[in-house]
Amino acid sequence: MKRSLLIIAIIAFAGCASVKESLYQTTNVYVGSAISLNTIEHDTAAMHALITEFNSITSENAMKMNSMYGDSSHINWAAADNYIDFAKRYHLRMHGHTLIWHESVPAWLRKISNKSIVDSLVFNYIKLFVSHYKQDVYGWDVVNEAISDSLGTYRKSFWYNLFGTTYIEKAFRVANESNPNALLFYNDYGIENDTIKLKAVLNMIDSLTARNVPIHGIGMQMHISIDMDMNLYKHALSEFVKRGLLVHISELDICVNSNKNKDRFKHFSHHAAKLQKDKYYEVVKTYLDIVPRNQQYGITLWGFSDAHTWIVNYCKLLDWPCIYDDRMKRKPAYYGMWKALSE
Ligand code: XIL
Repeated sequence: MKRSLLIIAIIAFAGCASVKESLYQTTNVYVGSAISLNTIEHDTAAMHALITEFNSITSENAMKMNSMYGDSSHINWAAADNYIDFAKRYHLRMHGHTLIWHESVPAWLRKISNKSIVDSLVFNYIKLFVSHYKQDVYGWDVVNEAISDSLGTYRKSFWYNLFGTTYIEKAFRVANESNPNALLFYNDYGIENDTIKLKAVLNMIDSLTARNVPIHGIGMQMHISIDMDMNLYKHALSEFVKRGLLVHISELDICVNSNKNKDRFKHFSHHAAKLQKDKYYEVVKTYLDIVPRNQQYGITLWGFSDAHTWIVNYCKLLDWPCIYDDRMKRKPAYYGMWKALSE
């Protein structure tokens, strides 16, 4: 090895090795991850990473309506209780995800077409759920993904088809009555770069706040790729900041391929790793720069390891979107995020 290369290698190694503190320890902003306890609880390395790197968790699926009910019309608290206990045991902030989502409507509920029956079922559910975890859940994604992509119209979901837009306002009001201390969020994807969707979300939030609906923050999911346009992202952040909202990057993962560019990387090359590292750095750094401290709810990853990411299983994409690899080793992306948090 040439002497100059050797020196570069030593410096690079020293740079990585100097990360003594974990992610959340480098900063005073909450750093979280979504988790599925059943997939990681027997994986010692994953559990170790989870409890050392993060101080906030979101349940990936267990607290969605479909999971809470399953096939029965009775709430089953067992799975959600596991997450709450886990968060307590390791002193993690518990973020509640999500009360109303078009993709998580129990099959038996979908069959009911009587508006007043569904009304009493769903708002009672929110009341029970939010009050049950009054001491435990810090913030809730009350409504998830109510706006369509690119069109700027309301998504024609089960909820919308039955109630029009009124379910959104009522969900926030009922959640607030059930726990006045909980921070309440509207959560959606694509608003960092779909300007039509962003506008529709802003209009919705403005109209809710004009009617004194208790909405405290925005969850920007941020399932993005390394191509994401930073200017559009900055614009979206500043629109939310202007409105005094808390801003939660709620489901961050960064693909090296994208829908438009599916096969760009067939392997996770050094080049891909470097581009991904830079993007993690930029995304986190920009959030910290633009969002004032008192509006930073935190940054949550949608899974921290390529071994368990939803992108491969659910989206059926070949990708490596997380900050740990599938053998629980920190990737360059980790160091990109760490650097932004520690600056
Ligand atoms: C995803 C989970 O990661 C998957 O395991 C599940 O099969 C489907 O839902 N936006 C959201 C999350 O708000 O709830 C979704 O989670 C990912 C997209």
